[in-house]
Amino acid sequence: MGKALCIILILLISLNCAFSWKKDEFRNCNQTPFCKRARSRKPGACSLIATDVSISDGDLVAKLVPKETNQENDENQEKPPEKPLVLTISAYQDGVMRLKIDEDQSLGPRKKRFEVPDVIVPEFLNKKLWLQRVKEENNDDGSGISSVVYLSDGYEGVIRHDPFEVSVRESGKNGKKVLSLNSNGLFDFEQLREKKEENEDWTENFKSHTDSRPYGPQSISFDVSFYDADFVYGIPEHATSLALKPTRGPGVEDSEPYRLFNLDVFEYIHDSPFGLYGSIPFMISHGKSRGSSGFFWLNAAEMQIDVLGHGWNDESVLMLPSDQKRVDTLWMSEAGVVDTFFFVGPGPKDVVRQYTTVTGAPALPQLFATAYHQCRWNYRDEEDVFNVDSKFDEHDIPYDVLWLDIEHTDGKKYFTWDRVLFPNPEDMQKKLAAKGRHMVTIVDPHIKRDESYYIHKEASQKGHYVKDATGKDFDGWCWPGSSSYLDMVNPEIRSWWADKFSLENYVGSTSSLYIWNDMNEPSVFNGPEVSMPRDALHHGDVEHRELHNAYGYYFHMATADGLLKRGEGKDRPFVLSRAFFPGSQRFGAVWTGDNIAEWEHLRVSVPMILTLGLTGISFSGADVGGFFGNPDTELLVRWYQLGAYYPFFRAHAHHDTKRREPWLFGERKTELIREAIHIRYMLLPYFYTLFREANSSGIPVARPLWMEFPADEKVFSNDEAFMVGNSLLVQGIYTQGAKHVSVYLPGDESWYDMKTGTAYKGGVTHKLEVSDDNIPSFQRAGTIIPRKDRFRRSSTQMENDPYTLVIALNSSKAAEGELYVDDGKSFEFQKGAYIHRRFTFSNGKLTSSNMAPATDAHNRYAPDCTVERIILLGLSPQPKNALIEPSNHKVDVESGPLLLRKGMAPSVLTIRKPNVRIADDWTIQIL
Ligand code: NOJ
Repeated sequence: MGKALCIILILLISLNCAFSWKKDEFRNCNQTPFCKRARSRKPGACSLIATDVSISDGDLVAKLVPKETNQENDENQEKPPEKPLVLTISAYQDGVMRLKIDEDQSLGPRKKRFEVPDVIVPEFLNKKLWLQRVKEENNDDGSGISSVVYLSDGYEGVIRHDPFEVSVRESGKNGKKVLSLNSNGLFDFEQLREKKEENEDWTENFKSHTDSRPYGPQSISFDVSFYDADFVYGIPEHATSLALKPTRGPGVEDSEPYRLFNLDVFEYIHDSPFGLYGSIPFMISHGKSRGSSGFFWLNAAEMQIDVLGHGWNDESVLMLPSDQKRVDTLWMSEAGVVDTFFFVGPGPKDVVRQYTTVTGAPALPQLFATAYHQCRWNYRDEEDVFNVDSKFDEHDIPYDVLWLDIEHTDGKKYFTWDRVLFPNPEDMQKKLAAKGRHMVTIVDPHIKRDESYYIHKEASQKGHYVKDATGKDFDGWCWPGSSSYLDMVNPEIRSWWADKFSLENYVGSTSSLYIWNDMNEPSVFNGPEVSMPRDALHHGDVEHRELHNAYGYYFHMATADGLLKRGEGKDRPFVLSRAFFPGSQRFGAVWTGDNIAEWEHLRVSVPMILTLGLTGISFSGADVGGFFGNPDTELLVRWYQLGAYYPFFRAHAHHDTKRREPWLFGERKTELIREAIHIRYMLLPYFYTLFREANSSGIPVARPLWMEFPADEKVFSNDEAFMVGNSLLVQGIYTQGAKHVSVYLPGDESWYDMKTGTAYKGGVTHKLEVSDDNIPSFQRAGTIIPRKDRFRRSSTQMENDPYTLVIALNSSKAAEGELYVDDGKSFEFQKGAYIHRRFTFSNGKLTSSNMAPATDAHNRYAPDCTVERIILLGLSPQPKNALIEPSNHKVDVESGPLLLRKGMAPSVLTIRKPNVRIADDWTIQIL
């Protein structure tokens, strides 16, 4: 295709951006045969029974066979699959049960169905518990027998034989169910087969696209029930509420299932179950009576999930008495195998921990990456970059990273520079690095098919591209025009790609440059649903349909590996990705894509980020300001005020929007934005401590309120407020001109306004006045938050700054908190080079003690920073002074401001210059 045509196409596509979401571009369930079929099945349709149950190699194995082979043919049953399926149950430490169901390999299926490699971390497999014996028991309802295995920690795995059902229950007398599969008899597994008749048509058409489907129907569907659950959450990515609304059942009309299919969606709408850029088939339930449980299906094909509202099953063929409250769900996938994980909880944090033992804990980001990022499509040229950079300094606004979008390249050939606009990229990066700042460039997966482009030349010669159904290099349209896509599923190709990031190979890069992976769903402008055809072929003859949702994951993985190699394994990579899959948390951050500068998009950013956190991806954010459109200044300011608490804090905008750097809206607005960004910088020690917590336990930085207050029903569906760690509650403001906002503060203890120190009662909804200068944020009584209050240009320059500790006392006049510090960039922390302090306040005494295991390695990181201020909230009457030990000196206790620039707050007491070292043990006794 000629260059002119390519430009026209690109123009048309960018024009498209100006219009709203094009529903018709994407398939709905009715246009997706496997989804339509699975949705129309009636409860009890599954005719499979479990037989030949035994223990083999520490697993429980069984066969699933159609009932007809044992009994007389029942005319009403659906046609059963011809061959038995193999079912395997394995148990793992920490409350995880794995259930696999696949075709019987010994019967030589037509093709091996795809199982996603590289997601389950090796350490998880080492946690396998060897099942020893299986016992049989009669079912209470007289419906035959079940086989039972003891899992661990008071839980049992149960297979009911006829009809087959797999569940996890508490062991002991009650034997309460926690989770089950196929309790509603909706299980279905389309086995690969030869065409019945020569002319049987397997092709599927959508718009002008034809999918040849050479292997025919191969979908899988089943129901999963969560017991004692009030709500279910998870399965990103959708722009919708945190507690997932039912998609079927009484009162739900025409709703689509939640779709998991990685797609590049222009101007997505909020409040919709349509699939966006990433997919994580992991759902977590929560209820007041028991707590949480979780279910994860490791499968990378298109998935659709229904949440079935109470009373969905009016045909009363339920096979279980509904004495327990539960939420039923229906899971449908186009291909792959059943490879599922049941997590018993019982707390929300337990479930997230269990999930991340399977898929890996979030990487610990470099400190700079947790600070503020400035992005725009595009910062035009070097002059623009320097100008923006110096304006931040001029306006006393810190920032850490400046981003370059696609226009910095030579013709959208990644790893190259437009040398007219960016003649000296290395010098440019070095100038910013001198102020402790970093840069990020974009590197997308579509490779321009241009013979003079070294990446394309090599990739095509080496056969590194994904192939189309005819075996030729797949050729699709993206930003550069005609493009091909690297087959990142192949480890050799990933390794080849990773080498491209070395400083010699990526000409013009320096070690302060990091990477942004976009369009990796993959986005193909002229492909079906703006993506790759499902019959395209990958390494090992895997069809694209089988791994579509993992494509971006592999690309992200290879890029992160490239940065790792570049730094010889010394520096932690930073790679932002738009597409994601389970395990993406190991490689970097994700953001919620092309949102819109509208209040409702500000609102939906919170449930989207919380959902990502619940499903392992702790490091996420939304484009501050909204990508499409021009936010009015009030919205922009509110977005900064909320975005300052996103785990990933980046402003970004489409090229058609007006410039919106923080200083462009008059002095007052600049001040407000500056203040919002300053708050983030003050809280960086707290955020970093939380990132480390996520890295060691999977528990996210930004948390739904119910994760911290699991017994308080009032917060189960609250997604307007959220917790940052266990100590801060943040309430966004999502309406224009708000004068008041209602904030529910959970728990029995008080909450202290972060700005004024005013105490508010817990367990109460407060109607608060709203001003333009901040959004409501509160510190929970009983916590201690570490801060760094000095204002610098970037996080890097704060390294040696002293700390402030903010102690919010509870009703027993006690509090506790933590601080984690390391060098902020390397992997030395894995060898123990960090400090981890615990602060406790009780009986008028603050104690700092070591939380890290005692090994010599800790001596390797011992910052000289001191504590310059201790702020006490909720202490009266005012004490006079405080005694510091072991130095044995006294300091005064005074009234003081909570925020340095905010003037005095009478109830706030300050101990100034205690000058204890942050890394040491010490006490401070109030006298
Ligand atoms: C789409 C991304 O979502 C957006 O953030 C980016 O600016 C454009 N691609 C151009 O690279």
